Amino acid sequence: MGRLNNMVIVVTGGASGIGRATVIKCAQEGARVAICDVQDNPGKEVEEDLNKVGLTAKYYHMDVTDEEEIERAFRHIVSDLGLIQGLVNAAGIADPKFDTKPIHEGRLDVWERVIRVNLFGVLLCSKHALPYMIKAGKGSIVNISSLAALTALPGVGYTASKGAVLSVTRLCAMDYAKYNIRVNSISPGFIDTPLLQSIWRETPEHAKELLKSVPLGRLGKPEEVASLITFLLSNEASYITGVNIIIDGGYIVH
Ligand code: NAI
Repeated sequence: MGRLNNMVIVVTGGASGIGRATVIKCAQEGARVAICDVQDNPGKEVEEDLNKVGLTAKYYHMDVTDEEEIERAFRHIVSDLGLIQGLVNAAGIADPKFDTKPIHEGRLDVWERVIRVNLFGVLLCSKHALPYMIKAGKGSIVNISSLAALTALPGVGYTASKGAVLSVTRLCAMDYAKYNIRVNSISPGFIDTPLLQSIWRETPEHAKELLKSVPLGRLGKPEEVASLITFLLSNEASYITGVNIIIDGGYIVH
């Protein structure tokens, strides 16, 4: 018996990194999973790999900044898999070249692009998933913030977007508690994904310093983050809402 049996769960950014690991874990725990991303080939590969071993997952092309596309994708998901009861907002971007410049050298178009995906993506996907959760009589949303929301790491648009995800999570948790819908966020530290590697390639020396400050002495694995997300989605977390959980190998308290 899986911990997410019969749940329909949407994972944005499900084709790569933390999102991909979450899709796999949710399917293994018995959920019917919608993989939503803009990277079609890797997204379809995850679908095929899971279907081959008898698990239920389906890929949907969906840009989290495009409201019409979200509405359409969610309608298809509901008709294919059933009412949405879980949403993992994992789609996210960073711009290690331009967003990492200090504010007086920053560019509005760069900040807007990052904030559009990392913040408006969360708002839009929540907006269109919540009515289905209300109909289902229950739901759980997990937003992915970052250590960048809690400490000073480079990335002006990135840090602004991730800080806002924390505040929106709290507000959303209060607004939807009466519908039996829980909303939480997580703040991962340094997790070994294509996104982190792209950032650390730009700043190898800074990356080495950061890694030295992780008490557990290594990067996190996407699967370790997926375990936390799966827990928050499941009934085991039935009394947890409105919180942010840090998963960082001890970095923040070092
Ligand atoms: P990743 O780059 O491996 O995966 C992100 C996925 O989001 C990709 O498949 C990408 O195609 C998708 N995506 C990007 N823009 C999209 C859009 N407009 N619409 C739909 N999908 C889109 O990155 P990773 O590391 O797995 O990141 C997942 C989340 O975790 C992000 O929100 C990131 O900010 C956050 N995070 C990651 C950390 C890390 O160390 N890797 C640390 C803290 C937070």
